[in-house]
Amino acid sequence: MKLSAEQETKIQSLIREMTLDEKIAQLNQASVSIVGGFDVPFSELIEMMTDGRLSQDEFHKIMATSEKDYHEEEIKQGLVGSIMVQDPETSNRLQKIAIEESRLGIPLIIGLDVIHGYKTVVPIALAEAGSFDRDLMRRTAQMAAKESRADGIHWHFAPMLDISRDARWGRVSEGGGEDPYLLSQFAKAKIEGLQNDQSSHLNYVAACLKHYVGYGACEGGRDYNTVSMSESLLRNVYLPPFRAAIDAGATTVMAAFNDLNGVPCTVNREMLTDKLREEFGFDGFVVSDANAIRECVAHGIASDEAEAGAKALYAGLDMDMGTEIYLKTLKGSLASGTISLETVDQAVERILRVKMWLGLFDHPYVELPESDELSEDNKALALEAAEKSIVLLKNKDDLLPLPIDTKISIIGELANKASEVSGAWAISFREKDGVSLVEGITKEFPNSRYFEVGGLETPINEAILQEALAYGDVIILVAGELVSMSGEATSRADISLPGEQSKLFAALENLDKPTVAILMNGRPMAIEKEVGQVDAVIEAWHLGIQMGHAVARTLSGANNPSARLTVSFPRVSGQCPVYYNHPNTGRPAGRSKFTSKYMDIEPGALYDFGYGLSYSRFAFGNVVLKETAESIQIILDVSNISDRDGEEVVQLYVTDKVGSLVRPVKELKGFEKVTVASKEKVAVELRVDKKDLGFWNNQGQYCLEDGDFIFTVTDGNENSESFELNLSF
Ligand code: NOJ
Repeated sequence: MKLSAEQETKIQSLIREMTLDEKIAQLNQASVSIVGGFDVPFSELIEMMTDGRLSQDEFHKIMATSEKDYHEEEIKQGLVGSIMVQDPETSNRLQKIAIEESRLGIPLIIGLDVIHGYKTVVPIALAEAGSFDRDLMRRTAQMAAKESRADGIHWHFAPMLDISRDARWGRVSEGGGEDPYLLSQFAKAKIEGLQNDQSSHLNYVAACLKHYVGYGACEGGRDYNTVSMSESLLRNVYLPPFRAAIDAGATTVMAAFNDLNGVPCTVNREMLTDKLREEFGFDGFVVSDANAIRECVAHGIASDEAEAGAKALYAGLDMDMGTEIYLKTLKGSLASGTISLETVDQAVERILRVKMWLGLFDHPYVELPESDELSEDNKALALEAAEKSIVLLKNKDDLLPLPIDTKISIIGELANKASEVSGAWAISFREKDGVSLVEGITKEFPNSRYFEVGGLETPINEAILQEALAYGDVIILVAGELVSMSGEATSRADISLPGEQSKLFAALENLDKPTVAILMNGRPMAIEKEVGQVDAVIEAWHLGIQMGHAVARTLSGANNPSARLTVSFPRVSGQCPVYYNHPNTGRPAGRSKFTSKYMDIEPGALYDFGYGLSYSRFAFGNVVLKETAESIQIILDVSNISDRDGEEVVQLYVTDKVGSLVRPVKELKGFEKVTVASKEKVAVELRVDKKDLGFWNNQGQYCLEDGDFIFTVTDGNENSESFELNLSF
């Protein structure tokens, strides 16, 4: 974070002038109580909406109509450093009090969960990362930054960089999947998009990397559960996305709820100070997750709130989200000598530096109305992102795409719910802005009709189902999970299709008509049987406001699907966790009974990370490996041997055959996405630096070990070629 000398001087002089109360206040993100039957912190209100206790519409109604008590008096006294607000009028009103009525006029930093788009909601991260399109990831982040900054939001609690290997964990939807390399690329792109365009203060926000760290490794995929892992696993898998984002200049970090090897991240000095700041060079501030300082008491790591607050601050946690424990207890902890004034000053300085970097001292307010939210350009980007995030999983006999005049029956309750396109954590989404699948498909295919057969929230209506099966020449079944089934606090022990949706698949199995399933879900699902019962399967995730159009255009071929899976699909729930880059065992799954597998299912995932089909056919040619002093390069031609222009994702995996620690069976080390016109070919070059062929051991050392490596270039589909090479470093 670069500040001018003048700005640095201003910060120092402010710190000299501040009273202890004013300093501690900077470390406080005020909890907001809302009058009108919802006397709960704002963060909890958001959680209620996220977990389905409150519908999105109810949430917005409360936000719009409730009389809000935003601690105006405390802001006036300079006792609040940050708040969460999502409307420009409130943001301006409170900021004005902070600037004009508090003694030192220090602006508030206003944060919000802007996870995958602000008003223009784009695909959930799990889907968008599957585009393998770095530029797209950057542009959607930039759009969200601009839309929200114009509404007075300076700080996004995003990107979420939790590696998720266990599909039972509901928060799989919020991150970019199971692979550290892809998620690191995603992280870098998101930081660039959110933070880098500083040509105007209205163009950027502070990013917040979360949840630091290991949150996705919660035991059994149960949210908030304990996490244990070796140093080597932490460094090789869970830390790389955070390091990539820090290297890209991320300005804030959120500590995770979970304990890591016995120490809750909120009070984990080794993670928040030794590693994050001293080793990785992070120079921004760290915020707790909502109410997490108080939860240290429940964790049993602190006997009371004062101890929890002192431990958190000492660990390197600068801002308290939601509990006001810093506000209430830090003075006492200073008086008793549990913490030092220097520690308080350090935290204050880090927060003031981010406020300065955001331009808040010069531009505290927003002008109304200035936002380009939901503009035609933004909607076009949302459509592009949605289309590029769709994964074609199955397409028997090239059933798809369908001619525009096809007579189609659409069934499945999710198809007709515009509220379900948003995905979890889209708190600024409004149902009226979402395009349902029925809206999109009936527009694209004039002879299509939706039949209200039920199957998810309501029982199947047999008579209407029979009518639907009789009407169309092609039957489209939309199935999956409600938005409230993924995101925070939505772990599921059984990740098969909820409700009676499996029965709908069964009804299609022996039908004498082509059938297509469109999946809408925020996690991989256990759908092996169902996939076998239909002719084509499109994984559409939760694609944001333009979902209906994107899916319809994919069915018609106006969009040629090109995304890949960011997470492996288990065959059954009991197989979780299943992920492609697992360590070798001494007994890899084989024909013998005494190998590492389950007795009752086929070994391996149903679909692996990196898998996805296209309407085009590609062929690899002239694949050559070149070794230079610094790198390994793979050069190849990708030919489109079909009649349809398409996009191909060329992936480079490396297998380190022998190591001083057991190595993963393979790891992604590079990718390129290319557009190839029909009957054309494009040269592709993939490169991996030799220094990136090492791994971290349990002593925290990076090891680059000589030996045999296998380099595999593949499209995650029918093309694949491997080279074995002995390397000395
Ligand atoms: C809890 C969630 O874990 C976190 O992701 C979110 O940013 C905060 N609440 C604030 O809403």
